[in-house]
Amino acid sequence: MHARGLATADSALVLAVCGALFGFALGEGQSQTASPPVSSNALRPVSAFANIGDPHARAVALFEEAGKVLTHARCVNCHPASDRPRQTDARRPHQPLVVRGADGHGAPGMACATCHHVGNFDPARVPGHPEWHLAPASMAWEGRSLGAICEQIKDPARNGGKDMAALLHHMGEDSLVGWAWAPGASRTSAPGTQAAFGALMRAWVDAGAHCPAQ
Ligand code: HEC
Ligand code: HEC
Repeated sequence: MHARGLATADSALVLAVCGALFGFALGEGQSQTASPPVSSNALRPVSAFANIGDPHARAVALFEEAGKVLTHARCVNCHPASDRPRQTDARRPHQPLVVRGADGHGAPGMACATCHHVGNFDPARVPGHPEWHLAPASMAWEGRSLGAICEQIKDPARNGGKDMAALLHHMGEDSLVGWAWAPGASRTSAPGTQAAFGALMRAWVDAGAHCPAQ
């Protein structure tokens, strides 16, 4: 009787500990998706900035709104400061260790496409896209101010030779960028929609493409 009572208490303890560990492991990926405040995952429309008469101030305000997307984990995890991508809303270093490699597609033997296939594979939490690879080092955003990111993306020497039209097309319509709004595996999606983000960037260009102070 006594022994049985003890065993029961032990299993209850084991269960409680497992539950805590398991809950914690699940929580790492999901903690920020459980109840995201609506306001932080919305984008204000271009019309909300129409009353800012000064084009310079309007451009900066528009870029700051679009910056909610540019500085989001879904984008920054692929625009890291080092050669290693980051993962999850916590932006932890990519597990296992993988590096950019010569062309952004990974080192020989550890290519991104070994694990990342043409679409998201949610049972294993692996995101996917046919062109899944890391942004070049010149396009690193991690740890940079919004002003620095702004200067970087409009500099053809560092943005892959894109003029404003190509840049707008890339942000508003490229499907690799678009993955950030359908990231799978209960990841937090980038704020707003890709179309709303693209519209903010277009209005920013129309207002002179001025950047926030660094
Ligand atoms: C050995 C398998 C494997 C390889 C190789 C691999 N990845 Fe991953 N990657 C994963 C898994 C699994 C996840 C999901 C982790 C999670 O969210 O729990 C992931 C997630 C990511 C994410 C995070 C998405 C987000 O915002 O949370 C990025 C970015 C990423 N990988 C980039 C790359 C790049 C770039 C390469 C090639 C240089 C690469 N990965 C190679 C397995 C791999
Ligand atoms: C899976 C990795 C990945 C994700 C996720 C990703 N990017 Fe990129 N990004 C790249 C790669 C690779 C390039 C280089 C592509 C090229 O030059 O054709 C790039 C280039 C860019 C550029 C070109 C200009 C520059 O200098 O940076 C912009 C703008 C951009 N990405 C925006 C975004 C935004 C916005 C998001 C999130 C909504 C995002 N990216 C998410 C991989 C990614």
